[in-house]
Amino acid sequence: MKKQTVRTIQKAKGKEKLVMLTAYDALFAKLFAPYVDMLLVGDSLNMSFAGRPDTLSATMEQMLYHTKAVCAGAPESFVIFDMPYGSYTDESTALANAIRVYQETTADAIKLEGSQEKAPIVHHLVQNGIAVMGHIGLLPQHVRGEGGYKVVGDKEKLLSDAKALEEAGVFALILEGVKADLAHDITHSLSIPVIGIGAGADVDGQVLVWSDMLGLFEEFKPKFVKRYCDGARLVKEAVQRYAQEVKNGQFPDEEHSY
Ligand code: KIV
Repeated sequence: MKKQTVRTIQKAKGKEKLVMLTAYDALFAKLFAPYVDMLLVGDSLNMSFAGRPDTLSATMEQMLYHTKAVCAGAPESFVIFDMPYGSYTDESTALANAIRVYQETTADAIKLEGSQEKAPIVHHLVQNGIAVMGHIGLLPQHVRGEGGYKVVGDKEKLLSDAKALEEAGVFALILEGVKADLAHDITHSLSIPVIGIGAGADVDGQVLVWSDMLGLFEEFKPKFVKRYCDGARLVKEAVQRYAQEVKNGQFPDEEHSY
């Protein structure tokens, strides 16, 4: 797949669905790259990779480490850095951290969560040459404040949040945990691509967390996740077979010995 740019991603709206998937390391980024338009180094890695209960303790250092790995594994991919909680609380903090992303990695864009109150921060970043993807609806970084992960249904607020972020300069928007009819209305009211996660089919593209999509993350499965592979079962069976073969002396055999 040809490397996407902000311009080609925007031009896809209304013509071709955009495919986005998270990636956290070089090995899997390389496997995913040929099939997706964008790779997101999501702070969801703090849950599935670091084993933490939510995304809030992800740090800039952690996200930079994983982003460098993804960029190395998939140099031809459009890579998006997910700004961790607390890294974009005001304009200067956000810009200093976004500059670190551009200087220390080859990521193409950053993503930040938040509604219209984040518009001045987005504007400031865009004015300084940073490509910004917005993220509205269900905000995982607000999980403790909200008391859980809840579908969002306030139509007027979501529409004005989306408009404010578009005007501030986001090149695309993630819409998470929103009923399909509302996601349709938001998508059709904007000229930038809307990428859905738990937002139905009538959006400009989809994103999933790779470990959910491959059935590796077993703790819980939100309704919107489709498991394209029973990854956890496949991995467990393989490791069990390996362990059995080591125990009973079947591995290594002649074929796997020097
Ligand atoms: O962190 C992440 O993986 C995300 C996706 C759920 C969009 O933000």
